[in-house]
Amino acid sequence: MCLTIPAKVISIDNPVPGLPVANLTVEDYKGERVLKSLWLPELKVGDWVLYAYDTAIRKVSEEDAKEILELLEPKRHIDVNGLDPGFIDILKGHSTGGLSRDGILRLLNSEDPLEKETLFAEANTVRQAAIKDFFCIHGIVEFSNHCVRGCHYCGLRREAGGVNRYRMTPDEIVSTVEDAVKGRGYKLVVLQSGDDFHYTDEMLFDIVRRIKKRCKVFIFMSVGERSLECYRKMKAAGASGVLFRFETSKKELYNALHPGQSYEKRIELLRGMKELGYYVASGFLVGLPGQTVEDLADDMLMMKRLKVNMATIGPFIPCVSTPLAERRAGSAEMTLKVISILRLLMPKAKIPVTTALETIETEEGRRLGLSSGANSLMFNLTPERYRAEYRIYPNKYHGSVEVWEKYGLFNEALSYRMLEKKMFEAFEVMK
Ligand code: 5AD
Repeated sequence: MCLTIPAKVISIDNPVPGLPVANLTVEDYKGERVLKSLWLPELKVGDWVLYAYDTAIRKVSEEDAKEILELLEPKRHIDVNGLDPGFIDILKGHSTGGLSRDGILRLLNSEDPLEKETLFAEANTVRQAAIKDFFCIHGIVEFSNHCVRGCHYCGLRREAGGVNRYRMTPDEIVSTVEDAVKGRGYKLVVLQSGDDFHYTDEMLFDIVRRIKKRCKVFIFMSVGERSLECYRKMKAAGASGVLFRFETSKKELYNALHPGQSYEKRIELLRGMKELGYYVASGFLVGLPGQTVEDLADDMLMMKRLKVNMATIGPFIPCVSTPLAERRAGSAEMTLKVISILRLLMPKAKIPVTTALETIETEEGRRLGLSSGANSLMFNLTPERYRAEYRIYPNKYHGSVEVWEKYGLFNEALSYRMLEKKMFEAFEVMK
């Protein structure tokens, strides 16, 4: 679903009294703007409305409006006097020719508090200019925690002990998605599992087909390495996107952390998915043991080369029963820097605040992410009884969903149309 934004009505201009469409002038946290309005006959000057994509959707109390503003408003007042001119040049350079690898490194290495704040604020401005206040809330259903792989960081790796393995039945998966779409207004749902071949390709096609038959929703598949042919048929069955991270673009590190897998094969599959016309969500981990800032710069440039539509990145979090259990976690600050720089590199991309960032920063991680260039949130829709078992890392955050859902746009047709338009706009740009 899309998140609506509050604004205060300053004037109402209804060219033909009694007819539904009015133009409203409103004031939001960035100043005045003119909106079209859905039929809101009671609306008066001084009221608060929620709007999405330049359309006022409904009236809300001032109290509710303040609650959501509190979550979205960046609390940053920056005095840029005194900043290193070289730093400013790099920040501004993204609009005139892109960021160089050296520029990215300069931003990643900055330890100056004012520079860091300026980077986050610039990313927020670029997000506003490129995609306006288009915040989305997506859902994820983690339908199986079985996995045949041995990724060194992941708590669900084949060898990990102490995991109660589960599999949802196709019926359970379909009905979980249906409830989320019809009952709670979700428009984009990711179906994720470990690399679990208990679900044959045919079973996955069937699940996608059944969901598409019952509800209007974008389905993103996150089922790991399968043949390109499987991905082709999954798309034909109705899947719109894939969520498939390359994890790190440093080949030696990739091969060391993924025994039995091949970096080349993974990248080839990712390129193949893009060629099939999938909306591609991909990304990498921040703070993996053995990863340098240079590697992170290369990861980001790789995202741009791959023309990723959705950039999904999160900090590495050490997990028991894995070879990396005793290593240090990636930092929230570095993750925010990476989010901001990705926004400068790919102004129109969708960038979710991932659960891993929320896990190390809780609710504040959401707010910080959204005011540093990110524009969407991914909420967990996995049935309660399985959630704790999908432990790719410990203490996974399942924070408050209610306050966000409350301001989501539920009008099914309208928010689906908006999301569709935005997704395809992003698609156009990335081609
Ligand atoms: N810390 C952070 N992210 C992890 N993932 C797996 N294990 C961890 C971990 N320990 C991420 C991987 C994978 C996604 C589903 O979860 O990037 O692609």
